[in-house]
Amino acid sequence: MSSDTNTHSNLVYVYDLEEAWIEARLISQSGVNAKVEVVDEHSNEKQICDVSLKDYPDQVLPLQNVDENGKVIDVEDMVDLPFLHEAGILFNLKRRHAQGLPYTRTGDICIAVNPYVWMNHLYSEGTRNEYARHYVYSKQASAGDNDPLVPHVYETSSLSFRGLALDTVNQSILVSGESGAGKTETVKILMRHLASLAGFSGGAVGEGESSEVVKKVLDSNPLLEAFGNAKTSRNDNSSRFGKYIQLQFQNSTSSPLQIDCKLEGSYCDTYLLEKSRVVGHTYGERTYHIFYQLLNAPEQYKASLWSGLKDKTIEDFKYVGATDTNIIEGVSDADRWHKTIDSLVEVGIEGEILHDLMRSICIVLQLGNLTFGQDPENEDNSVITSTVELEGLAELTGISVDFLSSSLTIRTVKARTEVYKVPLNQVAAKDGCDALAKEIYNKVFDWLVTAINKATTCAKSNSRIGLLDIFGKFICKRFRLIKSFPLNLCIFKGFESFEVNRFEQLCINYANEKLQQKFTSDIFRTVQVGSSFPWNIFNFSRNRHHSYVIFIFHY
Ligand SMILES: Nc1ncnc2c1ncn2[C@@H]1O[C@H](COP(=O)(O)OP(=O)(O)O)[C@@H](O)[C@H]1O
Ligand SMILES: [Mg+2]
Repeated sequence: MSSDTNTHSNLVYVYDLEEAWIEARLISQSGVNAKVEVVDEHSNEKQICDVSLKDYPDQVLPLQNVDENGKVIDVEDMVDLPFLHEAGILFNLKRRHAQGLPYTRTGDICIAVNPYVWMNHLYSEGTRNEYARHYVYSKQASAGDNDPLVPHVYETSSLSFRGLALDTVNQSILVSGESGAGKTETVKILMRHLASLAGFSGGAVGEGESSEVVKKVLDSNPLLEAFGNAKTSRNDNSSRFGKYIQLQFQNSTSSPLQIDCKLEGSYCDTYLLEKSRVVGHTYGERTYHIFYQLLNAPEQYKASLWSGLKDKTIEDFKYVGATDTNIIEGVSDADRWHKTIDSLVEVGIEGEILHDLMRSICIVLQLGNLTFGQDPENEDNSVITSTVELEGLAELTGISVDFLSSSLTIRTVKARTEVYKVPLNQVAAKDGCDALAKEIYNKVFDWLVTAINKATTCAKSNSRIGLLDIFGKFICKRFRLIKSFPLNLCIFKGFESFEVNRFEQLCINYANEKLQQKFTSDIFRTVQVGSSFPWNIFNFSRNRHHSYVIFIFHY
């Protein structure tokens, strides 16, 4: 779109270290040098600044989206923005966020800005019904095709359900954003709505939590959270694994007026659990919630599980250690313990199996307390120096002290028909011990997911809606600096970078990159092909190497 069409072509955005982008008025321009006037948001003081256009894409300052009177506009669907660039997108979202509107649309994509305050009216029964009627249970054959409602994730769930029930096409909803952006909560909101859409009867959608199936599907969430979520610097209840949940339906719909599509069960695939967190976490973060919950369980239970747990606290176990909070989302670890046990029982894990599960957690805890030293007789070898801790582990596992000791300090190498014993130095032995703890925890997690699936999966369903909850990382550093604007999801790149990045991180980053590239090609190119919108303002070739993508979204 040419700037000639804009009668307010001096209204622009410029970079700002603090705010990412700020509004400015172009005063003069000579070659790549420009003078702009900016107004300080707080003091209201006007200031003239020099900017170099060399710092801007195509050496042009992005124009503000204004109406004929020069007033900034905001839109429900960003496809309607006259100028669609980073600053325009961010300002549109910011303005909507300030009005208490967390959802915005970009074509088929729903963009959510985490409000961090529950706006109950957004998720009320009335709102659920409104979206259900408009997009699914409308009497018109073309329900939802015209006059969209205000952007909402319920639009995503409604259209998915409609596609499943009426078009008989399986659906996928992809939810992405940075840690703390609201992905997991959004998946839960979507699941509840989908469950209620399937329970529609007599002009109102169901509560979504009434049937036994729905209850089991929704109850499995806290369980996965206890074992797979941890406190990070950005989110007290951050999922540290990838999750793909398939809601299974039995669809017997005969016509748009006779929708009959029931939720029958769910199947959960998890991947890339952050195993490194089991053996270490940075200051201010925590390991997985279940460790704190178990160590805050009633003393009587702890003692009955394993004598080594009696009167022990989080600080007695090195993998756990002190925490700056024992309340997550308003519930203490001690209270959450009872809820976790209830959920375990709900999916059939109780009695001796439950004990074995918790003992496995104790084994992980105890492995962290083993210490290794140099063998006094040979400096290349190691010995376990924590005798009491080793004996505790032997009691817990039922494996002899000698066998444990040799297994943890000597590596056995098999080469064709020969077997070698290679002694480990103390560093390698400690690494091996940590690796064992991580693997045990990973196996426990996988076992738990299998158990949940056993309780929730339905063999006879004929259609499904998949929900993918996947981490995506900011790539826009300027944007990250916006302080006054808790917009936590936006243009992201599929990788996370820590001070030390290990092989596990490489795998997580690689998988995320691939998924995001797939998203880019599936969504943007499809939208581009089917749209009359001048997409050429996006430079795809530039983006390709970064997998620029967007937000929490749906398809
Ligand atoms: N729709 C929402 N409304 C209000 N607060 C929300 C919403 N979604 C998320 N939050 C808040 O943000 C926090 C982080 O959300 P979560 O879904 O766990 O993030 P993510 O999965 O992206 O890491 C939640 O604990 C909740 O307090
Ligand atoms: Mg999450």
